[in-house]
Amino acid sequence: MPIKISEMGKIFGVLFCILISNLASSYAQQNCNNYAFSRNTIYATCVSLPVLNSHLHWNYHSSNSTVDLAFRHTGSDTSQWVAWALNINGQGMVGAQALVAVTGSNGSVQAYTSSVTSYSTGLQPSPLSFDVPSLTAERVNGDVVIYATLVLPRGGTRFNQVWQVGPVYNGAPGMHGLGADNRMSIGSVDFVSGETSAGGNA
Ligand SMILES: *[C@@H]1O[C@H](CO)[C@@H](O)[C@H](O)[C@H]1NC(C)=O
Ligand SMILES: *[C@@H]1O[C@H](CO)[C@@H](O)[C@H](O)[C@H]1NC(C)=O
Repeated sequence: MPIKISEMGKIFGVLFCILISNLASSYAQQNCNNYAFSRNTIYATCVSLPVLNSHLHWNYHSSNSTVDLAFRHTGSDTSQWVAWALNINGQGMVGAQALVAVTGSNGSVQAYTSSVTSYSTGLQPSPLSFDVPSLTAERVNGDVVIYATLVLPRGGTRFNQVWQVGPVYNGAPGMHGLGADNRMSIGSVDFVSGETSAGGNA
């Protein structure tokens, strides 16, 4: 069947969009792969998440089902909290097993875990449903980096993820904004293939 002109236009439109989005993501990947961590850790995989100036870097170890990761939020305000989470049994915020970093009034960053059980969470510290043998955070050149080792539950390698940024009031996390970026910051991550999908509505 001959291809109509209008269909040709559509095909070019699609190719153009793919080209533009590839350019955008390769630009973001540069910021990802070239990043030099203060402790000189080299991560084999890096993904620039599509919203909220965030990057996820990791090394996956199949021998013990662990992942060493760094979640980096660039241009992070000292009055902001940042969080990155896996959601094992669901999607989005409720059920999120979160790593949280809060910058205190003295400028130092405290990292802790928080299992999110409701939309009205204050991100209080609590244990996660899987082990996190190591967890620290730092602020460096305006970026906040959370470093963690996760023991992946049930030996799984693909999970839903969610990340978020919000304000700190009197040293405690306040409710995050509800703008488009704050609602698009969910997706999935495959620690083996490095594939991520993102952009849902939470
Ligand atoms: C998991 O295995 C890797 C590679 O063998 C090792 O470097 C790492 O320390 C182990 N992690 C834990 C938490 O045991
Ligand atoms: C900053 O405050 C935190 C508590 O919010 C404390 O644990 C930490 O030791 C303080 N750091 C410095 C350098 O004073």
